Amino acid sequence: MAERPRCRVVALISGRGSNLQAILDGVDDGSLPVEMLAVVSNEPGAGGLARAERAGVAPRVVPHRGRPRREFEAELGTLLAELSPDLVVLAGFMRVLGAELVERFRGRMLNIHPSLLPDYRGLDTHARALADGGAEHGVSVHFVTPELDGGPVIAQTRVPVLANDTPEGLAARVLVQEHRLYPLMVRWFATGRLALREERIYLDGLPLARPILFSGDEPCDC
Ligand code: GRF
Repeated sequence: MAERPRCRVVALISGRGSNLQAILDGVDDGSLPVEMLAVVSNEPGAGGLARAERAGVAPRVVPHRGRPRREFEAELGTLLAELSPDLVVLAGFMRVLGAELVERFRGRMLNIHPSLLPDYRGLDTHARALADGGAEHGVSVHFVTPELDGGPVIAQTRVPVLANDTPEGLAARVLVQEHRLYPLMVRWFATGRLALREERIYLDGLPLARPILFSGDEPCDC
């Protein structure tokens, strides 16, 4: 049987790139049938660019500072058009993308967000979760829509809040789960198991009634 072509992926980052690394590791060990076309950062000093280079993936910089937003978006849009990926993965990308670009990749752009969405969209999720005194926090992977952190959620992993937790400690435990969940979601997409049609997520051809919820241990490839 002919092998399915590998899913062509571009990652957008702004910082250290630990989620990017989890995906690069999956490509490297063969668990992700993905061809990484490029890693694009809006920050020239992003640590993730060195990770890309070490993995033999083209690092690209599209700076946003000191220029109009539409110019930044136009350059990013042109680069993405040239690369023509099947999937765009936002991995700690700290710019809000305009609706036009997002719409172009509707159903083909994923984001990871450190909270159990719809709770705590935006920044400082860990400190806000602790301040609210809830029993659990976590991470979500969702399809990107023009609404910030508002697109359809595919899956989440819960992380319990501990007594005397700190934002840093909680963030570190959430991050462990991020590194498990994101490669799995990329795998589901790359193997054709995951799709967005209209506003609805389909897994293996069946609509998801609600996000898949994993609890702590290794998210299973069910
Ligand atoms: C992660 O917590 C991710 O969920 C959020 O930004 C952070 C990026 O971390 N969107 P890294 O750059 O992947 O290490």
